[in-house]
This record gives sequence, C-alpha cells and structure tokens, in this order.
Amino acid sequence: MPDPKQPRIHCAGPSITEREIRYVTDAVTRCWYSEAGLYHERLEKAVADYLGVKHVVTTPTGTSAIHLALLSLGIGAGDEVIVPELTWIGSSAPIHYVGATPVFADVEPDHWCLSAESLEANITPQTRAVVLVDLYGNVPDLTRVREIADRHGLAIVEDAAQAFGSSWQGRQAGTFGDFGVFSLHGSKTVTAGEGGLLVTDRDDLYERACTLRDHGRQLDGTRFFGDFDRYYYHFEIGNKFKMSSMQAALALAQVERADELVGRKREIFSWYQEEIEDIEALRLHVERPGLASSYWLPAVTIEPTQKFDTLHVMRALEKSNIDIRPLYYPLSSLPPYCETTSGRQAQDRNRVAYAESPYGFNLPSNLEMTREDVSRVVCKLRQIFAPSTVS
Ligand SMILES: Cc1ncc(COP(=O)(O)O)c(C=O)c1O
Repeated sequence: MPDPKQPRIHCAGPSITEREIRYVTDAVTRCWYSEAGLYHERLEKAVADYLGVKHVVTTPTGTSAIHLALLSLGIGAGDEVIVPELTWIGSSAPIHYVGATPVFADVEPDHWCLSAESLEANITPQTRAVVLVDLYGNVPDLTRVREIADRHGLAIVEDAAQAFGSSWQGRQAGTFGDFGVFSLHGSKTVTAGEGGLLVTDRDDLYERACTLRDHGRQLDGTRFFGDFDRYYYHFEIGNKFKMSSMQAALALAQVERADELVGRKREIFSWYQEEIEDIEALRLHVERPGLASSYWLPAVTIEPTQKFDTLHVMRALEKSNIDIRPLYYPLSSLPPYCETTSGRQAQDRNRVAYAESPYGFNLPSNLEMTREDVSRVVCKLRQIFAPSTVS
C-alpha cells in the first residue's frame, strides 16, 4: 500500500494558469457557429511559427494524427512500415488500422530510439515508410535516418508525440519527416487534455490530410461547384479527426507558454542530474551532441551489474507514493504481435530492445514538481541502491 502520509508525486502532468482558463472560458462561451474554428486557426498558426513548418492540422489525438499521416501517404495492405520496438503502442497501432504490416526495428542502447543500422537492415521491396519515434524528448540520429529513407524512397512519419520543444542540430523535432506528429495528451509538456497535431511542409500531403480528416469533404474552395454545394458533398470515404474549440483554446495557451514549459522540464531534469550523479547503479540519459532535449520524462538505465530490475524499483517507489514508469515492453513481445511472423522475426533480431526493456525507467517530471519532490525521489532511489543492498 502507498504511504498515505506522503503526497503522491505524479509521473507527468500539466501546468495550468489563468491564461488557459481564460482561453477555454472564451472558447466555450463564444466559439460556436461561424466562430467555431477561431482557436484552431490561432493554434495552427502558433504551432507553425514555433516549429517553423508550413502546415499544421489539429486532430483529436496523436494516434489519429499518425493514422491520418499513413492514410494521406496512401499506405495500405501489402505495405510494410518500420517502427522501433520500444515505444507506446500508439506509434504502431495505426499501421494496423491502414492494413499494413509493422516491422519492428531495434534501438540504440544509449537513447532507446531507432537504430539507423537496424532501419536499413529491415528495408524490403515492400517497405513504404518508417514511423520513427522521438522517445521521451530524445531523438534518433535524424540526419542518418533521413539519408537512409531518401536513398530507399521511404516516407518518414516522425512521431514526436513526446518531444514538443526538442531540437536536433538546431531544427525542431517533428519537422524532419514528410509528416511530424505531436500528442497533446494530459501527460504531455504542451497539452489539450487530449489532442494531436499533424505537421508537414508539403502542400500535397496537407491537402490530402485535410480531405481525409473531414469525411472526404473539400471545403477549402468556393462553396458551390457546378450544381453541388460542397458542404454535404463527400468526394470519398474519410474519417472524422477533429478537436473541439475548447481543446484548441487550451492548447493555444500552452503553446504560447512552450518556452516556459520546456524550460521547467529542463530545470527538473537538471535537479535530477545533480542529485543522481553519484548513484553508481543508475545511468541518467543525458543530451548527446546535436540534441537539445525537452526532457519530457527523464530516462534512466539500471546498470547491468545490479541485482534489481525496474519492477523492483517501481514497487519500492509505489510504497512511498511515487509514480515512476517502466520502459516499454518490446512491441513484438506483446499479445497483438508476438505470434505474427513479423513479431517472431523481431524477437530473434532486436537484441538491444529486449536487453534494455527490463532495466529502464522514467523518473517523475510533472510540471508542478519542486526541488524537494526531486530530492524525495532520489533519496528513495539512494536507499534502494545503497551499496549494502546491491550485489
Ligand atoms: C510515442 C507516442 N506516440 C503516439 C502517442 C499517441 O498519442 P495520443 O495518446 O495523443 O493518441 C503517444 C502518446 O502518449 C506517444 O507517447
């Protein structure tokens, strides 16, 4: 049982100010009928300016943004899409939704993101795209991944769901692919409660995404064409992938505070960095050259010499009312994939992901965390990994 005397330290959570409350109140009061799209437009413009991209489409979730990206790229049955083993299932489930086959690639041990080498080794004549993942605010070697994808004619969907505000060689995460995707889930640095963003510099993909997210309508031109009114004219079967004005208003307030929110994440990380440095059993994942991380969740590896795995640490911290998250299970080990041909092949191949998964975890980094909270977490870790308790 968690200790009820200690307030819970949540793993991730938002910072909400008067600005968010004001915008959402305005949206719920005013943004109906002809003004229903007001906050969406402001949000799309704010995100485009922040990231330096041409087009932004707001979606109900990050998962639906990836789904929409794959649909817009025309990916379907018979196609293969490469995705890293260690990620939230929202990165891979949309590959299934469009009828394509996920191929699981291995990751790098020092940052758990896609291994460029493994990406290249898994390309077949059926491969159409890669969904690469900017895990916990870190990124794979985006320069190399882009070069490999270009050489093999693959589309890139950059799943930056966890990486709003990170950058690689001075360029914002989420802008390296044909499409970039962000999640605005309540746990994310910039949130709308639920929500997603699909971004692209390509006009053709933007137009395709706008049609496919609106039940196949094309409302961008003049209202009437020939004898038809575009409002109820569906050119094809699409999806309904939209967010509400209230979500857009909340997200806008957050994007306007993005530098502050990312700054706060970086500050929380720096406290951990100072305090964890001398715990030899643990390795905190720090920025490598070229990366400026928004540190959505600080990532830690338990050194292989230790007798404890992540589950042990989680159980111990839960007793102190501290919420840490384990590194993901390799996707190919999970019930939807483990018996498939693709899953079985990946189990044999992806040594790093399988070796890392039981020994990785994330430290709490909710946006209301204080230095004292960080000290409480590290104090507990210090007790677990005190030299007398480890082998
Ligand atoms: C890496 C990754 N991809 C995709 C998603 C899906 O986003 P959403 O939960 O908004 O659908 C998430 C959400 O946590 C994620 O972490």
